[in-house]
Amino acid sequence: MLAYPQVALAFMNHDHAEFIEMREQLLAALADEDNQAEVDALLDRLLEHTRTHFGEEERMMREAQFPPYPVHKGEHDRVLADMETRVAEWKQGRDAAALRGWLDKDVGDWFVNHVGMMDFVTARFIAAT
Ligand SMILES: [Fe+2]
Repeated sequence: MLAYPQVALAFMNHDHAEFIEMREQLLAALADEDNQAEVDALLDRLLEHTRTHFGEEERMMREAQFPPYPVHKGEHDRVLADMETRVAEWKQGRDAAALRGWLDKDVGDWFVNHVGMMDFVTARFIAAT
């Protein structure tokens, strides 16, 4: 299980827990080669969840006139584009090892780093406004 901090806004903590749960489900589903349809469905859910969550964070940052908004938004855009590319690559190539490695290492590292740095500071700022 990944260790990451709680932040000052409840909706963000809720969404982060959901994200981690989906990542765990994906890693479990990938252990069995017969689960491609389930993996596809979980990846679609992960993308949808991430789009909605980023959109909500961005709306709140704009409303609170959070000064480093462009930095945080820029990272969201980069991560979402990478996620879309990885999902498309999986659906074409069906390389389970590549997808597992990305989810396990890249997504895990990114998540812990993003929540601990950007989300932590952002939530504290918004909660204080
Ligand atoms: Fe964020």
